[in-house]
Amino acid sequence: MNKDLKAAVDKIVELFQVDEKLLKSATNLFTESMKTGLSNASGGREYMPMIPAFVTELPTGKETGTFLAGDLGGTNFRVCSVKLNGDHTFELKQSKYKIPVDLMENSTGDKLFAHLSSKVEAFLKENELRKDANETLKMGFTFSFPVDQTALNKGKLIRWTKGYDLKDVVGKDVVELFQASVDKLNLNVSIVALANDTVGTLLSRAFSNDPSKTNSNTVVGCIFGTGTNGAYLDKVSNIPKLKGTDYNKNVKSMVINTEWGSFDNTLQVLPNTKYDKIVDASTANTGYHLFEKRISGMFLGEILRVALIDLFERGLIFQDLFKERGGSLPHRVQQPWLLDASVLSYLEIDDSTELRMSALLMQNELRLPTTHEERLAIQGLTHAISSRAAQLSAIPIAAIVKHVKEQYADDDRDFEIGCDGSVVEFYPGFQAQILKAIKVIDPLEGEKKQIHLKIAKDGSGVGAALCASVA
Ligand code: GLC
Repeated sequence: MNKDLKAAVDKIVELFQVDEKLLKSATNLFTESMKTGLSNASGGREYMPMIPAFVTELPTGKETGTFLAGDLGGTNFRVCSVKLNGDHTFELKQSKYKIPVDLMENSTGDKLFAHLSSKVEAFLKENELRKDANETLKMGFTFSFPVDQTALNKGKLIRWTKGYDLKDVVGKDVVELFQASVDKLNLNVSIVALANDTVGTLLSRAFSNDPSKTNSNTVVGCIFGTGTNGAYLDKVSNIPKLKGTDYNKNVKSMVINTEWGSFDNTLQVLPNTKYDKIVDASTANTGYHLFEKRISGMFLGEILRVALIDLFERGLIFQDLFKERGGSLPHRVQQPWLLDASVLSYLEIDDSTELRMSALLMQNELRLPTTHEERLAIQGLTHAISSRAAQLSAIPIAAIVKHVKEQYADDDRDFEIGCDGSVVEFYPGFQAQILKAIKVIDPLEGEKKQIHLKIAKDGSGVGAALCASVA
C-alpha cells in the first residue's frame, strides 16, 4: 500500500479500536442506564426504554398446542404455524415475504397492515389451515420496534427504527391496527399477544433448552441482525415503573425488552467517529439508537461505504478510476445503504491471491473496479468496523449477566444467551469476539460459571407462539 493510504487507513483503524477501559466503563454505564430505564417512562432519549413485556415467566419446555405467528422484524414479514410438542421441541411451517421498500416509508399504516394481512391469508391458504371457518386461530405478533406495551396484547409504537418511517403509526396500538386489517379479510384470526423479537428469542431458547442436559439457564434473548436488542427476565421489585400500571400484582417477575439499540444516545462512552456521525445524520431516527448504529447489520456496510468515500475525497483511493471515467465514480458507490453486511462477511475472510475474491465482490455489488492496494485498504477497514461491532456487543450481555447473577446465586448452572440474527449467526468470528470481550469485562468476577452463546434459530416466530400460548 502506498505510504499515504496506509497512514490514513491505520488512523481510521485506530479510531475503531475498543480497549478494556471502554468495555468496562460502558458496562457500568449500561447498568446505570438499565436502572434509569426501569424507573422512568419508556419514551426518553437519554436512557434505554426498558419496556415491560407482560410475560411473567419463562417457558419450561412442556408447553403444547398449535399457534400462528406473524413476525415483522425488518426487511421481511414471516408467517408461521408452530406446533409446540411439550418436550422442548416444536414443528414449524413458515413463509417469508419481503416487505416492498415503498411500504416502509412515505406510506401509511393502513397500507402496511393490509399487506401483512394479505400474506397471513396467503399462508393460511397455502397450508390449508382454514379448515373450520368457525374456529378462531390464535396468533402471536412479533413486532420488532420500540412499543410502549401496557398488556400482553396491547402496545403503542414509540418510534420506528431500522429504516421504517410511517408517521401515522407512531403512538397507535399496533395490535389494533393489525387486527382491524385481518378482520377486513374475515380471516378469523385473533391476535392475542404482542412480542418483541428479543422477547420471542428469549422464550424460544428457554423452551428449547433442557437445563438437565445443557447444565445452563437461559438468561438473555438477543438479536444481532438488521438491528440489535435484548430481553431478559427481571424481578418485579427491580421495576419501579410498573407501579401504577395494570399488571397482576401477584407476579414476581417480568420480561423486559431493553431496546438496547438506544444505549448511550447521548454518547457518554461510545466511540463516535466522523463516519458514525455521517451515517446517523442520514437515518430517519437521527440521535436515537446510536448503539445499534455501531453494531448491527443495517449499518456496517454503510459505515464502510462512507469511510471509502472519505478516502476518495482525500485523494487516496479510486483516483485513476475517477479520471478514466471522465470525473465520476460508479453510481452504486455513491448510493447509501447498498452495501450489505453479508458482503462485508466475505471481504473479511478473503485470503485469495491479491484479494481477487474481493475484487469480484466490489465489482458485482458496487460496479467498482479496484486495485490490489485499494482492496487491502477495504479489508483493513472492514475488519476494524466489524471487530468494533462484535466487541461492543459484549457490553449489554455482560451488564445483564451482572444484573441477574444474584437471582441465580443458589444455582451453579452456567448462563446461556439465546441469540438470533444474520450477523451473530453468519459473520465470521463475530461470536468468538463477543465471548472474548465478555471475558475481558468479566461480569461473573471469578465465579466458576461460564457464559455460552446459543443460536436460537427462528426464535422470534416460535417465541410469539409461546406468548400466544399463555394468553
Ligand atoms: C431494533 C428495534 C428492536 C428490535 C431490534 C432487533 O433495535 O428497535 O425492537 O428488537 O431492532 O430486531
